[in-house]
Amino acid sequence: MSDQKTFQLNTGARVHAVGYGCFQGAPGDADGALRNGMKVAFDAGYRHFDTAAFYENEEIVGAAIRDSGIKREDLFVTTKLWNDRHHEVEKAFDESLERLGCGYVDMYLLHWPQATHKGDNWSADDSIDYIETWKSLEKLLETRKDKVRAIGVSNFSVKTLPHLLENCKVTPAMNQVECHPYCQENQVLEMCKQRGIVMSAYTPLGQANSPVLADPDINEIAKEVNASPGQVVLSWNVQRGVVVLPKSTNPARARQNHELVQLSDAQMQRIQNISKDPKRVMRLCSTFDPKTRTSYGWSYERLGWTEPEPQV
Ligand code: A2P
Repeated sequence: MSDQKTFQLNTGARVHAVGYGCFQGAPGDADGALRNGMKVAFDAGYRHFDTAAFYENEEIVGAAIRDSGIKREDLFVTTKLWNDRHHEVEKAFDESLERLGCGYVDMYLLHWPQATHKGDNWSADDSIDYIETWKSLEKLLETRKDKVRAIGVSNFSVKTLPHLLENCKVTPAMNQVECHPYCQENQVLEMCKQRGIVMSAYTPLGQANSPVLADPDINEIAKEVNASPGQVVLSWNVQRGVVVLPKSTNPARARQNHELVQLSDAQMQRIQNISKDPKRVMRLCSTFDPKTRTSYGWSYERLGWTEPEPQV
């Protein structure tokens, strides 16, 4: 374990508060950005790496881990089940682990509640629901005891999380959602805390050219604490108990994102208040398809997302 802050999972294991987001904007790693980024990340002290079958980079993440020389037990590795594999969870998991080649996975997440048809990410497959898929993840814990340490979900909302919690045997250890000051997920966070689920944040900076990082409140706080807007946004989330998974291929920014600052109660509240301004409530991760008006086959309504749809 590096000396970074950690949170305890409901399995008893601990997870580092700042993980390295391994999706670099496109599947694979054509330009080597991930390979180089991970080298910098290890050096900067990151020990938590978040990937997914969908990112098509599990081999690269696994090779970087093996090359790092860092002991496996000092690392925390997450990967995820893609939407077109809900009918074949064990097979999909085994393939992910084979590609990673790192012995075991610390966290296996159900990437989205919805299943989609093979070859079409935008067409929902309603022949299976997420309760059934979750049961297959629960079974993995029995059949792959030494290969998967914890299971969790991603993109579960105020609508889908309670339904899952009413119907599961194993409470998810994590719920990974889009989360930054413009998409605070306050209710989901409350629900997670009540049930001992660690919430983690993807797109914690609001993606490239983020309006969050240009926000006047965030910039004033950044001046007050002598940190960058990115550090303020990440520190706010960690300080309220959320794991953050920032992406950066820029060495200086990757290092900076791993260094948290302490915010005062007033500064925390000022960021929290952004959620009361409708002009600053929006999803920024580009999962929305304007043709189908869905995120991977489900409408915002079906997902239980209350933010306005993007105007595209
Ligand atoms: P870069 O790789 O050039 O640093 P998110 O993790 O929310 O998806 O955001 C990732 C985007 O934010 C990338 O475009 C990344 O670009 C940029 N980024 C990462 N860290 C910072 C930072 N500390 N300040 C400003 N931009 C950042």
